[in-house]
Amino acid sequence: MTEAELGALVDAMSLEEQISLLSGIDFWSTAPIERLGIGSLRVTDGPNGARGGGSLVGGVKSAAFPVGIALGATWNTELANEIGAAIAEETRAKGAHMLLGPTVNTHRSVTNGRNFECYSEDPILSAKLATAYIRGMQAKGVAATIKHFVANDSEVERTTMSSEVDERTLREVYLVPFEASVKQAGTWGVMSAYNKVNGSFASENEWLLTKVLREDWGYDGIVMSDWFGSHSTAETVNAGLDLEMPGPTRDRGDKLVAAVEAGDVSRDMIRTRALNMVRLMDRAGALRDMSERVETELNTPEHRALIRRAGAEAAVLLKNDDSILPLHRTAIGTIAVIGPNAKTAQIMGGGSAQLNPYYRVSPYDGLVSQIDAEHLRYAEGCSNARFLPLYRGMLKMEWFDNQTFAGEPVFTETQEDGEAIFLGELAGGKVDPEKYSLRLSGSFMPEASGTYRLGLAATGLARAFVDGELVANAHDGWTAGHTFFEEGCDEVIGEIALEAGRQYEITVEIVSKPSRNLGLSAMRIGITLPLGDAAIAEAVDAARNSDIALVFVGRTGEWDTEGSDLEQIDLPDRQNELVAAVAAVNPRTVVVLQTGGPVEMPWIDDVSAVIEAWYPGQEAGNAVADVLFGVAEPGGRLPQSFPAKWQDNPAHTQDPAIYPGFEGKVRYEEGVFIGYRHYDRAGIQPLFPFGHGLGYTSFEITALAPHAPALDASGGVGVDVEIANTGNREGATVVQLYVRDSEASVARPEKELKAFAKLRLGPGEKRRVTLTLTGRDFAFFDVDSKNWRVEAGRFELLCGFSATDIRTRAEVDANSDLKLPV
Ligand code: BGC
Repeated sequence: MTEAELGALVDAMSLEEQISLLSGIDFWSTAPIERLGIGSLRVTDGPNGARGGGSLVGGVKSAAFPVGIALGATWNTELANEIGAAIAEETRAKGAHMLLGPTVNTHRSVTNGRNFECYSEDPILSAKLATAYIRGMQAKGVAATIKHFVANDSEVERTTMSSEVDERTLREVYLVPFEASVKQAGTWGVMSAYNKVNGSFASENEWLLTKVLREDWGYDGIVMSDWFGSHSTAETVNAGLDLEMPGPTRDRGDKLVAAVEAGDVSRDMIRTRALNMVRLMDRAGALRDMSERVETELNTPEHRALIRRAGAEAAVLLKNDDSILPLHRTAIGTIAVIGPNAKTAQIMGGGSAQLNPYYRVSPYDGLVSQIDAEHLRYAEGCSNARFLPLYRGMLKMEWFDNQTFAGEPVFTETQEDGEAIFLGELAGGKVDPEKYSLRLSGSFMPEASGTYRLGLAATGLARAFVDGELVANAHDGWTAGHTFFEEGCDEVIGEIALEAGRQYEITVEIVSKPSRNLGLSAMRIGITLPLGDAAIAEAVDAARNSDIALVFVGRTGEWDTEGSDLEQIDLPDRQNELVAAVAAVNPRTVVVLQTGGPVEMPWIDDVSAVIEAWYPGQEAGNAVADVLFGVAEPGGRLPQSFPAKWQDNPAHTQDPAIYPGFEGKVRYEEGVFIGYRHYDRAGIQPLFPFGHGLGYTSFEITALAPHAPALDASGGVGVDVEIANTGNREGATVVQLYVRDSEASVARPEKELKAFAKLRLGPGEKRRVTLTLTGRDFAFFDVDSKNWRVEAGRFELLCGFSATDIRTRAEVDANSDLKLPV
């Protein structure tokens, strides 16, 4: 529809109808206006797939793509574009018009629980990947929603914390991926952050939502709140928030009608917000879509192949002494396959980005599909779980419409395992979410005798019994912890001796308590016989008697998750001990890490090779096996610096006001100096630098030639770079171009990434690429004049294979001062 037709449609609506478009009707959709033939806008979470319209766990199955940091590690914009397009197809299959992604917040602290979901510590790398992903998605008619706008870079007190960031830092770092998504990719959706920015909630921050987004950048899509992240009526509407989510509304509807009548919000403002909504709905095919939501499972061979290829492209080979990798299938001998992640496929992080995958390929399964299982010797070694392993078995759930289990249950259902998350309505609407009791019952038959641990976490007051005996008490003294988006308590663990082969009754009783922010009810029951010294001894034994030891360690989506930051970056549980013990008996030890960000590696000098494989989606094990056997190149380069220790990261400080926050404020005092910009300035050598990653061949940069000795009138210059594959097999590399402004009148980083290219070359092949730098690539943000400024003087161009592996340099001059608009 034309803008005039959309305007006429909005003008045909009553005030109440216009207002009805400005909030959700349920968790994932808006209200239709049948009188005018206007459909409902349906959204689904992302960004590493489209989960659909159900709960966070279970439900219809979806394709699990590599998580954000893995996509960041590919440095491959074409691949990001293909993935955006594929996720658009999944979004449609889930009956939705709009995907809630990509997540383009920035890796400020190595401990942020959501780093796995975001691309990088570098704004330009994030911006280029986000724009490619959005273009791929929107070319298929599905709306993207960049999130979370802005400075939502930690999960500590995430719904109330104020990020205190100066304007230069916002403009040069944290806003950059959002700006590019608006200006270059034309994103149709933006989600405001939970946090406050400089004292005002992002959802009612007029400077952000109107001045920066709409006036400076010319945005014409919608801004929606994060879930329950809108806290006012007139303020949010006037500041620029179009859509309050989820529904039913808390702040709009009748309250907004009253605010208009009271003169707190103008009719014109409502018209503008409603027009933004219908414009988006028209673009995304929702405006005239009167169909019911139907969710289907696509599971196409094309998507499966894309995910497998992307997983290998994301894998970063950090170290490879004596070219121990790739492994040669013909001379394999025996391989010890060790570690908690060997037989458990870690495919995604936790929180709203999780989905119910079509399948999960573990590294062990990936290996077995490429070599005979008789070559493999498996030992788990130790655990890496944050919570006790989930209870796996059917549970009967009996709901009572009172808080005392009185009378007959009003609703009964079954649950396939020990974890459930309910959003909105409970028990088919038969109980009040704030006044119910729930009894879960199932049975458990141990395979071995011993002292078992039973763990319980819940948003309500919960108790777990085994054969009537109280084992875990998360009822008395319940306090909020770090589960279920900070709505649940921390896991409470009890112990009980159980005998092998005997059937035990497990009962969990939960009494509701008012939800803090998000209106969710959730519980998790775990049970295990803990692994002890014998498990490490078994792993050592397997390693000693094998030709090579592959150790699969890391974290899980319980650690790398929305809702809680990490407290440190050690490998959890006894994994460091496990790696060291294995390496001590087998010098040919290869560590495959799966984490959502850096970990300390105290054993690094004792192992031969390390691969960081992240959470690469449902094809995890196949992608890892492809890289191990050289079927695919380890295509990844670090999108985040890996410091030797957490203390080296700028967010680690004695001052809690800088991180994790103090009295409701977190001060971004390091300014623009995050990631490699910090390590450069502080003279700290990271364990593995930003941009680092090895391949199975070698590359040289054979020429670096700016097209002119000086910048052109708009401040730009083209730069030719020539790369040669000097090895004897085909391979890929990422050539990285950094700019240095050593004469600036403000403090600037020693180098800033401004352009890059991923190239695949045959043995001996040479290629010339042109990287284009614009005026913005030389500019800093001048807070006084509110312009981007390029200062006359000399700039250095640094070209290399990582932030610390600069191979060649050139210079260009800016002959005069230049001011560029915002
Ligand atoms: C997250 C968003 C997500 C939304 C809906 C929030 O908790 O911060 O990223 O899209 O929930 O699930």
